[in-house]
Amino acid sequence: MNIAIAFFSATGNTRAMARIIRDHFKALSAKVDLHDVTVPAARQKGVDLSAYDAAVFGSPVHSLRAPQLMRDWLATLDGNGMRCAMFFTFGGFMVHPAHHSTAEILKRRGFTVVASAEFPGKHTYNLGGWRAFPDRPDDRERDLAARYAEAAYNRFAGNDPGELSDLPQGPFSEAELTHFESFRFKMVSKLPTRDGTECSLCGLCEEICPSGAMNHATGIADPHACIACLGCVAACPENALVINSTRESWQPKLSMSNTTEAELNAQTGKIYL
Ligand SMILES: Cc1cc2nc3c(=O)[nH]c(=O)nc-3n(C[C@H](O)[C@H](O)[C@H](O)COP(=O)(O)O)c2cc1C
Ligand code: SF4
Ligand code: SF4
Repeated sequence: MNIAIAFFSATGNTRAMARIIRDHFKALSAKVDLHDVTVPAARQKGVDLSAYDAAVFGSPVHSLRAPQLMRDWLATLDGNGMRCAMFFTFGGFMVHPAHHSTAEILKRRGFTVVASAEFPGKHTYNLGGWRAFPDRPDDRERDLAARYAEAAYNRFAGNDPGELSDLPQGPFSEAELTHFESFRFKMVSKLPTRDGTECSLCGLCEEICPSGAMNHATGIADPHACIACLGCVAACPENALVINSTRESWQPKLSMSNTTEAELNAQTGKIYL
């Protein structure tokens, strides 16, 4: 069986899980290709799904859903009845709307969605001082990924004819979820910038930027395009790009979510069938 895994990953958690899932599929004798669609050129080039028997779509949770750039890309695909599975990495807070909203897009595009999963991954805002899932993904995610790959494989192969059960939408409408997307700019009030510091001008921050917002020559993110994914901050080999501290918002975020740091970090992932 030929499987395509297409994923978006700004800071590496989803990429790491995509590789782990690929290895588990390979152990089941599938042939698997990874397609990283994080940067605009890769999304524009697209993925020729006609070469595959099944597809897996991986994404971080950004403000309770897959990032808009990924949702927009998924909405350009033609499923033609192909069986597919989804997976998400998340930073310890609300993730559930992502499954429902992404499944709806894929179904509208003609895919048959058979499985989904969520995996803990260090929260992007740890880069400014949060302490959510500091060392994840780890062996717990590897084990869960093995079970996820096996369940998805059986559904792709038809050994298990099941499809993903209808997942509840959750308490928020799509319009409310869209409104929540602006909250990230309260947490990251100062977008990545070099603040005039000199660097080697290697260009990596601009090369890996998913939205085309970063200009490596000026070291300034375009506020109209930046999605606050912090990919550039994580990638800079000289740690030259900075944001505001997120330390002050950590305890309020835990209180708002009715949880403690210990409780949050004890969470494990989940498979949905
Ligand atoms: C803009 C933004 C919004 C996020 N929103 C959520 C969220 O709603 N719930 C959550 O648990 N994690 C959230 N996270 C954390 C990411 O989902 C998590 O760190 C993810 O593993 C990052 O994946 P990546 O390394 O592949 O980019 C958010 C991160 C960013 C950058
Ligand atoms: S990645 Fe860092 S070192 Fe390279 S151009 Fe950007 S800011 Fe400069
Ligand atoms: S400039 Fe903004 S969108 Fe681009 S990598 Fe940096 S944080 Fe992400």
